[in-house]
Amino acid sequence: MSEKKTYYITTPIYYPSDNFHIGHCYTTVTADALARYKKLKGYDVFFLTGSDEHGQKIEGRAKEKGITPMEFINPIIDNAKDLWKALDVSYDKFIRTTDEEHVKCVQKIFERLYKQGDIYKGSYEGWYCTPCESFWTESQLVDGKCPDCGREVKLTKEDAYFFKLSRYQKRFEEYLNSHRDLMQPESRYNEMYNNFLKPGLKDLCVSRASVKWGIPVTFDKSQTVYVWVDALSNYISALGYDSDDDSLYQKFWPADLHLVGKEIFRFHTIIWPIILMALDLPLPKKVYGHGWLTIGGGKISKSKGNYKDPRIFVNDYGVDAVRYFLLSEVPFGSDGNFSELLMVERRNSDLCNVLGNLVNRTISMANKYFGGVVHKNTNPTDLDLEVIAQLESMDNEVDEKVEALNIPNALSLIFNRLERLNKYIDETEPWKLAKDDTNKERLNNVIYTILEGIRLCAIELNAFIPSSANKIYQQLNINNASFENNRFGFIDEYHVTDKPEILFARIDEKELAERLAAEDNEEEKIEHLPEISIDDFAKVELRVGEVIESKKHEKADKLLVSKIDIGGEVRQIVSGIAKIIKPEDFVGKKVIVVTNLKPATIRGVESQGMVLCGENGDDIEIITSTLPKGSKLR
Ligand code: ME8
Ligand code: MG
Repeated sequence: MSEKKTYYITTPIYYPSDNFHIGHCYTTVTADALARYKKLKGYDVFFLTGSDEHGQKIEGRAKEKGITPMEFINPIIDNAKDLWKALDVSYDKFIRTTDEEHVKCVQKIFERLYKQGDIYKGSYEGWYCTPCESFWTESQLVDGKCPDCGREVKLTKEDAYFFKLSRYQKRFEEYLNSHRDLMQPESRYNEMYNNFLKPGLKDLCVSRASVKWGIPVTFDKSQTVYVWVDALSNYISALGYDSDDDSLYQKFWPADLHLVGKEIFRFHTIIWPIILMALDLPLPKKVYGHGWLTIGGGKISKSKGNYKDPRIFVNDYGVDAVRYFLLSEVPFGSDGNFSELLMVERRNSDLCNVLGNLVNRTISMANKYFGGVVHKNTNPTDLDLEVIAQLESMDNEVDEKVEALNIPNALSLIFNRLERLNKYIDETEPWKLAKDDTNKERLNNVIYTILEGIRLCAIELNAFIPSSANKIYQQLNINNASFENNRFGFIDEYHVTDKPEILFARIDEKELAERLAAEDNEEEKIEHLPEISIDDFAKVELRVGEVIESKKHEKADKLLVSKIDIGGEVRQIVSGIAKIIKPEDFVGKKVIVVTNLKPATIRGVESQGMVLCGENGDDIEIITSTLPKGSKLR
């Protein structure tokens, strides 16, 4: 018996969320398509997904609700599984980092790295928010305050363990020289090299004393394992690595592909490989960092509120409209824009007009002209041969694109063939052939050629839009649709269904655009703060000020320290705007200053007032005025 080739593919494990949006579905649907494709191509596939359940955020949210973290997480996980089901995601295992096997595995890994001297005890310094019991890094702070509650934070030190990444830098770089596939696409290698490897790897904090909701460090109960060692290890703990039964590990490790979003590429292509190197384990063969689904150029995010539950789309447009959009619209490796309207346009133009229409016309013709029974085309014309040749070259071409993880191009190769078949119908004009009985054989051959074309395309589409592919097989009334039978002429005689089913009913784009506009207006209803009186408002003194000097805060790269002339008096003001404006561009601007705000010390620098900014999600704008400096606003 010959052993099947194995293929191990993973998605990241997701943070538990009630607000999964269409962007989250991108990694998982893409991984699903690849897993299905490999399965159909005869590989023994293991497709892993799961959830990343530890950390202070979860701890805090459960506490707010007065329940345990597990009580908080469990329904969210059920909800996530329901979403993957709605999207036809066919994972082989769903790992949770709270699973006992995972916890044990992480503890063993941590212990071993400690014993080897790869992990050492040190101290971690960060900005601590006492009410939230949370540490923040410099760059996470918002205006020098806690990003969650907006309160003061204190520079605090606590004991923590560190992983000596630097120890492996040289060995890792050497490895990379002969294993470029580890970092894909190629452009991301340069980014990793220039930003992280070249400047030298810094040791990584791998435990926390202040986070209780985490995996306890076995030899130091005051500490829990900190995010990445816990999360990344899921890829081997899920296979039973270092457990009583490690047969899956033996069979499937190293992973063929970790598919991840670009923002977590570094963890997967530097930290994870080095952890594995320290454990003397083989490294994953490939990590692919995909781009983001964006809305209006920005990442889809909860905080912007620009998301809908993807199940609404599945319900309104069908699962394959969602899958097809995700798989075809985001260009290979880069970002892609999402809008509901765009998704429906793609559905109408490709799934409805090209695929659905072809299947529907053909099944109808087979019934109308031949009572559904169509036999093999044994006398192909030159035109037939040309179409057949295109169909026969499809599989290799698609294979090549899928191997390169270029799914959008793979899909367009299939849709080219579907379009060719529609054109073939226009060229052969079956309705004219049907008028004359002497053309009966030719008419049969034409219909057979199209039916075979549909079958071959459906086989190629199966991994990407499985539900539609199956509906097509049903209409063709075949049960042996597989890559093994993907040559033209495999079917001797078709007996197609006499009840053609519309695969994708057209959706009115104009109507949809109007409905979406109406929904948008509704969303604009905003929540207000409690009312205040005019006297309350009059307590705020606002004046126009001219920026006369500005420089970066020495200890915080998000902050600018500026001198602002508010009309004969100069104030020093610290503002969190370094991300959106350069100090030299800020100078000369006339801005609105809150001039009677109690002075505050922000990262060691006194701020005597505040500059007004407008904010929309991540977009920040400095409010300016053309009035003379000193002018009062009311
Ligand atoms: O990062 N477009 O989990 P996560 C495309 N727990 N992909 C998107 C996206 C968007 N707008 N938004 C999210 C984590 N994703 C960690 C991983 S792995 C050991 C630990 C993708 O829930 C994102 O890129 O924040 C990632 O691949 C996946 O959703 C899960 O993200
Ligand atoms: Mg994320």
